[in-house]
Amino acid sequence: MKIGILASGNGSNLQAIIDSINKGYLQNAEISIVISDNENAYALKRSKDNNIKNLYINKKEYKTRIEYDTKIVEVLKEEKIELVILAGYLRWISEYFVNEYRGRIMNIHPSLLPSFKGLNAIEKAYNYGVKITGVTVHFVDETEDAGPIILQETIIINENMSLEKLEEEIHKIEHKLYPKAIDLFIKDKLYIENKKVFIRR
Ligand code: GAR
Repeated sequence: MKIGILASGNGSNLQAIIDSINKGYLQNAEISIVISDNENAYALKRSKDNNIKNLYINKKEYKTRIEYDTKIVEVLKEEKIELVILAGYLRWISEYFVNEYRGRIMNIHPSLLPSFKGLNAIEKAYNYGVKITGVTVHFVDETEDAGPIILQETIIINENMSLEKLEEEIHKIEHKLYPKAIDLFIKDKLYIENKKVFIRR
């Protein structure tokens, strides 16, 4: 399956997916392209280091979000991408993009959605004082961080846990959960009914 990954930053989730393919955990998966809206994204360096085609698309060259997304969709279609993975992609994607790839775009978010949507979710959950938080992998629809939920995993926040430790633990969970969700998709085990995701056993 041809996968296209969109990333804006560090790309540790991208790296986890690359490693899962290299180790043979993710089979029948090929990252055909990595696209970034940030020229300096470390995710771009990771793709270069792993000989994966990569592309920076400068948002300043496009007047509207739809024009920008039209360019991305054009590239994804050229590459015959079947699954789009948002891995720390910090732009809200347009309805046009969602419609072109509905049910085939996944996102990972570092909280138990629908709690703590948006940026800095780990810190928001920590500062709120919740006792349990976690990670969500979901399909993307036109709502921010609110599409059908594929997988969630929890972590208990102990009283003496630092924010840094929580961030570290959340990322560890992310790096296992995202490949797991992608594997389910590739094996055609996921289906959506009334906004709920079910897993074929
Ligand atoms: C990850 O923690 C991911 O869950 C989060 O950005 C980080 C990217 O890290 N995404 C969101 O907050 C989406 N709303 P990475 O660049 O190292 O993969």
